[in-house]
Amino acid sequence: PFDVTIASTGETLRIPADRSLLDVLRERGFVLPASCELGVCGTCDCGYRDGTVIHRDAVLGTAARQDRMMLCVSRARVHVTLDL
Ligand code: FES
Repeated sequence: PFDVTIASTGETLRIPADRSLLDVLRERGFVLPASCELGVCGTCDCGYRDGTVIHRDAVLGTAARQDRMMLCVSRARVHVTLDL
């Protein structure tokens, strides 16, 4: 599990090991575009501000991974703050 903070509101949510960021954020009411949900299409791209992200997508290059992540498959080691 890890925690995600929403930059615009300061709200922090816990992401369990068996659920994706995308799932938990949608359940919380965020309307987020997504398509493949497999980390290959790039639709669920989101910016982040801090945290150690575990990238599991096949879309982003090394430079983009410094501040972008795919919400359907990628995770954080302990915490991440999202540009939402
Ligand atoms: Fe396709 Fe996330 S929905 S990469």
